[in-house]
Amino acid sequence: MAIRKIKEDIYNIGAIDWDRELFDELIPLPEGTSYNAFVVFGSEKTALIDAVEPDKKEEFLRNLKELNPKKIDYIVSNHAEQDHSGLIPKVHELYPDARIVTNEKCKGFLMELLPLKEEAFDVVSDGDTLSLGNKTLEFIIAPWVHWPETMFTYLREDKVLFSGDFLGSHLAVSNTFSNDDSQTYLAAKRYFAEIMMPFRPMIKKHLKRLEEYDLEMVCTVHGPVYKNPEFIIKHYQDWVSDDVKNLVLIPYVSMHGSTLKTVEFLTDELTNRGIEVLPINMTKADLGKLTIELVDAATIVLAGSTVLTGPHPQMLYTAAMINALRPKTKNISIITSFGWASQATKTLKSLLGTIQAEWLDTIDYKGLPNEEDLEKVKELADKILDKHKALNLL
Ligand code: FEO
Repeated sequence: MAIRKIKEDIYNIGAIDWDRELFDELIPLPEGTSYNAFVVFGSEKTALIDAVEPDKKEEFLRNLKELNPKKIDYIVSNHAEQDHSGLIPKVHELYPDARIVTNEKCKGFLMELLPLKEEAFDVVSDGDTLSLGNKTLEFIIAPWVHWPETMFTYLREDKVLFSGDFLGSHLAVSNTFSNDDSQTYLAAKRYFAEIMMPFRPMIKKHLKRLEEYDLEMVCTVHGPVYKNPEFIIKHYQDWVSDDVKNLVLIPYVSMHGSTLKTVEFLTDELTNRGIEVLPINMTKADLGKLTIELVDAATIVLAGSTVLTGPHPQMLYTAAMINALRPKTKNISIITSFGWASQATKTLKSLLGTIQAEWLDTIDYKGLPNEEDLEKVKELADKILDKHKALNLL
């Protein structure tokens, strides 16, 4: 991707990965991704803020060569993960006098992950500034978005925030600025769910802190630049709040149709009670389809078949992911069908230890659900209705 001008003397020389399908060998990327790296020219000094994924070395170095800064005085690293730091050693090799500017914790990570020597670093603390002449960089230490060493860099004179992964989106688009709110909303919500959601309390604090700053633009390291930062900040405030939607999420696996029969019955019973329901077949859906709904679903009901005497492996994976992402869901239950004996519910429950939700009665049944089993499903639907009413969701 070509060089993109952000503002006078600020450029994005990052790369776009149109084809990348998986991040961290875990997260599906239906719309590819991008790695942004920004060059800021001051009247006296020049800074590079973050670099790109090593796979995109050629594109990044071509842009750097074309922009042709006479020198790079500072390489600012907001986050040590390799998709933004992996090419810092190469940049440092090209500009050996450049100082690598980051916080103490990030310096430690960078030295562990990359061939960088301690003497190349200048360490900054929260509130420290760095003058580029007519432009001033201010560093805001913002841990746990989504690693412990993360920070933001604020360009005071231009009111631009370089926020690292924070507020980003896995979106490969040629436009420099976010110009399609619905596309950006979905990509950013998906990104929040998969990367930021486990850190909601910390993110709340960072959003509060950013209220002190006048923001005209936010440059994240993934996805287009926001010229309207209030758009993404308003959505983040909603996602990190305790508010939930009148939605029951049912991730399920059905081997012979027995679980599906119960899922469909529960879906109808909840729908008849005025509750929105989303069953997701976990053998077919990508992880993002589940995670994006985990952001604000009031209730989760896991429903799965039993393999031998334990949960279907796809349900093990689903439970482990839900547990890792720590959604703010208020109610949770499990429905399991089995052939001869089952520890599936017990095992799934043991995998969901971080979830703060209230456990509703679980349902286990042998073979196809009989009338008594379906009566229990109706009772579960009634209970969910009571809980959603208590939350003023309908
Ligand atoms: Fe985009 Fe945490 O790296």
